[in-house]
Amino acid sequence: MELRKVKFEVLRFRPEQDTDPVFETYEVECMEDWVVLDALNAIKDDVDPTLSHRWSCRMGVCGSCGMLVNGRPVLTCAAFVRNYEGTIRVEPLSNFPIVRDLVVELDGFIEKIKSVKPWIIRKIEKDLSEGEYRQSPEQLEEFKQFSMCINCALCYAACPVLANEPEFVGPAAIALAHRYNLDSRDEGNAERFEVLDSHDGVYACSFANECSQVCPKHVDPAMAIQQAKLTDFLEWARIMPKRSFT
Ligand code: FES
Repeated sequence: MELRKVKFEVLRFRPEQDTDPVFETYEVECMEDWVVLDALNAIKDDVDPTLSHRWSCRMGVCGSCGMLVNGRPVLTCAAFVRNYEGTIRVEPLSNFPIVRDLVVELDGFIEKIKSVKPWIIRKIEKDLSEGEYRQSPEQLEEFKQFSMCINCALCYAACPVLANEPEFVGPAAIALAHRYNLDSRDEGNAERFEVLDSHDGVYACSFANECSQVCPKHVDPAMAIQQAKLTDFLEWARIMPKRSFT
């Protein structure tokens, strides 16, 4: 198989020795079918074993290999080297603190996901003897697209609001909240309302649409946020009179 020599500029940050991140350049003999992740693994295996980056499934499912490639958030296991010309620049996802090299701190992201209670909430749980919660294909279709998120956080790296307002709940978490609010088996709308309606909730979104542009699973979080604004307004209209007169 034909090999192509490709130059990679990789952002390095080793907290024990670097005060600021620095780029290091590597030349890698890449095979025609290589993705950027293959090149990073080749650097780690054959050139510099101290290079740190995350990955697991290598098939666009686990969501752990997200990085900036030439400035754009992508899954590096799905970014073919042959689709880039010239030097390829690889950086950690923006809008996250760097832990080391290409690895970012995701604790804040996970907390935001948890804050919207992404699970089925029932006011009164059915007893197992009463059978399952049934759902028609049409009801499934209502939220299916928004359930395809793999938590890769590319949408957070692309979001211009998060760049300036790090407390914004963000695209993936809001899309997930919306997914559960649309689920016919769920009754947790009011519980998620506090987060979605907060200062850092749905109305902080400026509809730049960058999140949907980079989403590798076509979840379209920008659309989910716009729909969630309407759901939020309806919930607000439902509870507001009670709040005013009590
Ligand atoms: S390694 Fe799992 S999505 Fe890329």
